Amino acid sequence: MRSTMNSDPLPSIANACARARQIVVVTGAGISAESGLSTFRGPRDALWEKYDPMQLATPEAFERDPELVTRWYDWRRREGLNARPNAGHVALAAIERIVMNRGARFTLLTQNVDRLHHRAGSRNVHELHGSIHVWRCTSTGRELEPPAHPFAEFPPRSPFDPRGLLRPAVVWFGEALSPSALDVARGAMETGDVFFSIGTSSVVFPAAGFVEHAIQRGGTTVELNPNETPISGRVTHSIREAAGAWLPRLASALA
Ligand code: OAD
Repeated sequence: MRSTMNSDPLPSIANACARARQIVVVTGAGISAESGLSTFRGPRDALWEKYDPMQLATPEAFERDPELVTRWYDWRRREGLNARPNAGHVALAAIERIVMNRGARFTLLTQNVDRLHHRAGSRNVHELHGSIHVWRCTSTGRELEPPAHPFAEFPPRSPFDPRGLLRPAVVWFGEALSPSALDVARGAMETGDVFFSIGTSSVVFPAAGFVEHAIQRGGTTVELNPNETPISGRVTHSIREAAGAWLPRLASALA
């Protein structure tokens, strides 16, 4: 049954989590909004309202204007380094520890490239769209983690091969996700019995397909998002709250 404004779904969700053998969580940019990082879509200051993704987040954009693309990703990389995990990230890490301590499994699939889940202490995190903190040589494929300060030149030249440039190791539109992250995601989607979709507009695939799959499999599905999305009407519980406000309550209920 879907939650209504009048009944607090927390006890029922906590109960499902306490009985679950595997919890699967998909997160998106919204969980990092309370850390001060912009979301891609949304009413205020969303990145894709100000910038055109086709000019910044595709292999063709990088071919056309590598300086523009690498400057933009380096700006976002440094924004990410200056941000701190918020109460939502920290609560998810606490929930993972609680679930693992009672012998169940917890899988966090994130579309975020900011590494804030890792920094909050989450362990079983899979970055579906890569990481903005790793950059890859276009010639050799070798990767490095740049220092905190901005690159000295744009586009940055690869230290591995004079013919190469560095590009962020994120997944751009039109590129394939890492097969290993996809394998983990698909496996978790088959075995998970409680599924959370947190801070994502649920419009970008394959992550948007995960929640569809979970709804069809019939487990407990929870969406946590202050705004309505295409899946809000079909999940078991649609919670219209900020992740940083609600997740600590779930962590306390499970502790
Ligand atoms: P979006 O920007 O599309 O969606 C963010 C969602 O977070 C929105 O639905 C907001 O309502 C919600 N939100 C905002 N503040 C929140 C809060 N405090 N707590 C919970 N939710 C909140 O971001 P994603 O769904 O992650 O891909 O976007 C998916 C992909 O599209 C991104 O990984 C990126 C983007 O284009 C690439 O760049 C390839």
